[in-house]
Amino acid sequence: MCGIIGISSNKSVSSSILNSLKKLEYRGYDSAGLATLSDGVINEVKSEGRVDSLEKNFDLKNLKGNIGIGHVRWATHGIPNSVNAHPHSSHNVSVVHNGIIENSTTLKKSLISKGHNFKSQTDTEVIVHLITENLRSSELELAITKTLKQLQGSFALGIVFKDIPDLIVGARRGSPLAVGYGPNENYLGSDSYALKSMTNKVTYLDDGEFCIVKKDQVLFFNEQGKKINKKILELSSNEANYDKGDFKHFMAKEIEEQPTTIKTGIKEYVDNLNKDISIFNFPWNIDEINSITLIGCGTAYHSCLMAKYWLEELTSLEVSIDIASEFRYRRNKFKKDTLYIFVSQSGETADTYAALDLCNKNKMKTCAVVNVIESSIARDSNFVLPIHCGPEIGVASTKAFLGQILVLYILILKISSLRKEIDKDQYHEKIKDLKALPSLIEKTLLHDNDIQAISSTFNDAKGSMFLGRGFSYPIALEGALKLKELSYIHAEGYPAGEMKHGPLALIEEGMPVVVLAPRDKYYKKTISNMQEVIARGAKVLLITNKSDNEVVSENIWETIEVENTNDDLLPFLLTIPLQKLAYYSALKKGYDIDKPRNLAKSVTVE
Ligand code: F6R
Repeated sequence: MCGIIGISSNKSVSSSILNSLKKLEYRGYDSAGLATLSDGVINEVKSEGRVDSLEKNFDLKNLKGNIGIGHVRWATHGIPNSVNAHPHSSHNVSVVHNGIIENSTTLKKSLISKGHNFKSQTDTEVIVHLITENLRSSELELAITKTLKQLQGSFALGIVFKDIPDLIVGARRGSPLAVGYGPNENYLGSDSYALKSMTNKVTYLDDGEFCIVKKDQVLFFNEQGKKINKKILELSSNEANYDKGDFKHFMAKEIEEQPTTIKTGIKEYVDNLNKDISIFNFPWNIDEINSITLIGCGTAYHSCLMAKYWLEELTSLEVSIDIASEFRYRRNKFKKDTLYIFVSQSGETADTYAALDLCNKNKMKTCAVVNVIESSIARDSNFVLPIHCGPEIGVASTKAFLGQILVLYILILKISSLRKEIDKDQYHEKIKDLKALPSLIEKTLLHDNDIQAISSTFNDAKGSMFLGRGFSYPIALEGALKLKELSYIHAEGYPAGEMKHGPLALIEEGMPVVVLAPRDKYYKKTISNMQEVIARGAKVLLITNKSDNEVVSENIWETIEVENTNDDLLPFLLTIPLQKLAYYSALKKGYDIDKPRNLAKSVTVE
């Protein structure tokens, strides 16, 4: 959430900063800005809206300066406009910030009493004035140490100084920040994605640390301002994946990439020779684990819920799931025999990270299921299971969801087999079915024209509901989330059996309702619930799997039949039409599919 870039070079930096901001835009896109230093002047330019507007409004190519910082914003304090856009500057300091300063009101009052003038409604501006104030009495490193001590809350910072024109200061507490190393230049970035096009050599700052980035040198300091040494890591890079190719949107591309996501996941974890699942270096003995808690946010939370159903079906382990923002503030009873699994595409989600941190502080067993293996959540977990789906750029998660549930399913199958809760034949049968999944997804992706046609009805409606039972319930939640975040249509996911306890009152003539009723053990029950909504006027889109038996129900508006596989794997297939429904609905409305309003890809504030 919010993106930061800083470049210290021996040549002009404005074009490179602009290119990086375009890459970072998925982290926030309500305003953008940059500041360079040249001839003893801070050149600050900022604009409401996308990076494109910044480019249109200013002649950035001629903005001089070999050192600069840039920012894309996702508003926390203050409305999205050009005044609240970053950088924020005083006469001698300019700052870009990602995070929230919790004591900004108190600090602001005290700074105003010392004669500082504020221009914006942001919490960030207090940082600018605090540094300016502290620089009056202290040298740079001490002024930074003092400032960071005065700040409460979370931050990643990039700071430039008019009077110290050869360096950028970076600082991290709670929000990720990395340093990158290039030829005759060095960088600061809120994530490695922004840096990858310039370098594959990076160092991640840890909480409490700050750094000084010059074109030919980087120095690191701990919270006390003492110099420290840090490791340089090499990133794996695959630039090709950052391209939309022939697709109109990243989301469309990412939906179509899902057979590859699943193929890659299977290749990583399934040992073809021995028809077994290989999870290398699992750090615990399976007998040490008697319960599993899964934690995530949004779509990743739906993956946790999916895993709960599978774990209960395939093991006798105790299972609980939690939304990270709730878990982190509850009085949890930490148990030594619990495995805590953190699910996150970005690996940077602030709430999920805080939940992990809490578990680490309580010395729990922690495992991360992430896409970005260099992320904070991956680095700070005891064990990492990457989902290997490549960069996901569309803000709405699609292939990462399938990647997450794949890895979780594989882990659960393995645990079940190690605990001898599944017999060998059944285990091998399920692995065989898993290997057939990519081609079934390919076939399910062919449902395109029918979903395009159906999507108009959703666009004309006041709201919609997504119903499912058992394994289909998490998918109903995910389908509703996708539709609301992309096409801004009110959509609710519900357990089908729960409708009569209240939500049925919402059903009125012509309301589109998606019913997920694959022919699993819940089928008949779900079909009964479907009839209840049809009887009250709902227009039902039934999504089921192919079968020789016809669906016994009248007045179904539309039916989509996905391919057939074992019950465990049907959720993968049911997800596809729902992703497409959300995509086509937003496309028809002309909304910005890859960057839905008010959202951002990497949610690094709580
Ligand atoms: C919805 C979506 C979000 C994320 C959530 C967690 O399409 O993408 O709900 O799933 O913000 O993000 P990660 O997985 O990066 O922790």
